[in-house]
Order: sequence, then structure tokens, then C-alpha cells
Amino acid sequence: MANGLQVRGLVKSYDSPSGKVKVLSGVTLEVAGGETAGITGPSGSGKSTLLNIIGTLDTADAGSVQLNGQDVLSLKGSRLYEFRNTSIGFVFQDHHLLPQLTALENVMLPSFLAAAGSGRERALELLSEFGLSKRKDFFPSSLSGGERQRVAAARALINSPKLLLCDEPTGNLDETASAKTGKLFLSVAKKRKIPVVIVTHNLELAKLFSVSYIMHDGKLLPGGGK
Ligand SMILES: Nc1ncnc2c1ncn2[C@@H]1O[C@H](COP(=O)(O)OP(=O)(O)OP(=O)(O)O)[C@@H](O)[C@H]1O
Ligand SMILES: [Mg+2]
Repeated sequence: MANGLQVRGLVKSYDSPSGKVKVLSGVTLEVAGGETAGITGPSGSGKSTLLNIIGTLDTADAGSVQLNGQDVLSLKGSRLYEFRNTSIGFVFQDHHLLPQLTALENVMLPSFLAAAGSGRERALELLSEFGLSKRKDFFPSSLSGGERQRVAAARALINSPKLLLCDEPTGNLDETASAKTGKLFLSVAKKRKIPVVIVTHNLELAKLFSVSYIMHDGKLLPGGGK
């Protein structure tokens, strides 16, 4: 599979006052373009660590990450910065929206950083796709939790990333809003034909995805799925 995401043998330890703690001990994961992979697992099992390494926000001790055939972990300096900004979309548990910017301005922001023009038209299209046209001039404080997460998802997609990584995107939402957000990510993957990886504690949500995994003892085990 040249296209999509391939993670092989990822190993990661952290230093702690009581010695080295092994968090990942050989994680392997393949997600094709258009597929969504759900990852569940206990708190502290290494789910965020895995997403952060795939997204180049953290480093691995061993293993490889390839996106559409490109070796991600060997990127350095300005190429790494550009890759992170244009190839990867992140959605975090707490939306990370800037409170002093409107929904529309928040969505447009990464397009400025990537020097890809103002991105206003694309931002308006994304807000419309996510059912937020009427909220475009609202500040995050005036949006519901689900609406904020949808703005965060729109922002993650503004630079047309080749991979979308979501860490507990529905962590603070009720069941209805979670299901709505989950389905949105499914359609995002299908429409753009990109791999989407979603970490969630929500087992109902995990059932929606193409494939799901459980993080256990530093490895990903098959968790079922469609
Ligand atoms: N920067 C760091 N330095 C030291 N230890 C870390 C660091 N980041 C994570 N850890 C440790 O690695 C382990 C895995 O953390 P991680 O955040 O990946 O878990 P998680 O599965 O995402 O948990 P949760 O479901 O609570 O978000 C934890 O024991 C944590 O304390
Ligand atoms: Mg986490």
C-alpha cells in the first residue's frame, strides 16, 4: 500500500524519576486513504503519544511512519515545519480555538501560516459543509461544545491535509453530538480519500469506524469495527 498511512514498529520510552517508562513497544498500524481508524484504550496507555509521533509533534525511539510513501520521521527543519503545517490536520480534545477570533477567522488561520492566501472562500465552504454557516461570525465562547469541535475540524482541513489525526474529538460532548461529530469524520475521510485516525474513549463511536484498535501493553490489538 503506497497510499495512506503506514506505521511500523514504533517504540517510545519516557524518562521518569523512577527510571525509563516504555509507552509504545512496537506499534503497527495501516490506514488507507478514505478509511477511519478508531483507537481506544485505558488512560495512560499511549494513545496520545502515538498520535503525536505520527503527527511529528513528538519523536520515536525506533520504527517508521510513512504517509503516501513518504518517510515522515526523517523530516527535519523547514521541511518538517512545512509538512506539519500542510500535510497533517489535528483535532485535539479541547478544541484549541483562539478566543479572540471568530469561527471564520479561526478556520482561516492555518492558511495564513502556510502562506496559502487568505483561504476565506475555502473556510466558508468548510463551515458550510459542517453546518456552521450561520455561526461564522460567532466567537468560540458563544458556540456549543459540538460546534466548537466542528470549527476545530474545519480548521484542521483548511490546508487540505493528507492525514487527519483526532485526539478525543468528542471527549466533552454528549452522545448525540458525539455521534454527529463521528459521522462527520467518516464523511471527511471518504470525500477527501485521506486516512483519518481517531482516538476515543467512546466505544459506541469506535463502532462507527472502518476499523478499530485497542491500545494494550504498548501495542495495538484489533478491536473489531465494520
Ligand atoms: N512528555 C512526557 N514525559 C514523560 N512521560 C510522558 C510524557 N508524555 C506522556 N508520558 C507518559 O506516557 C504514558 C502515556 O501517555 P499518553 O498521554 O500517550 O496516554 P493516553 O493513552 O493518551 O491517555 P489518556 O486516555 O488519559 O489521554 C503516560 O504514562 C504518561 O505519563
Ligand atoms: Mg491522551
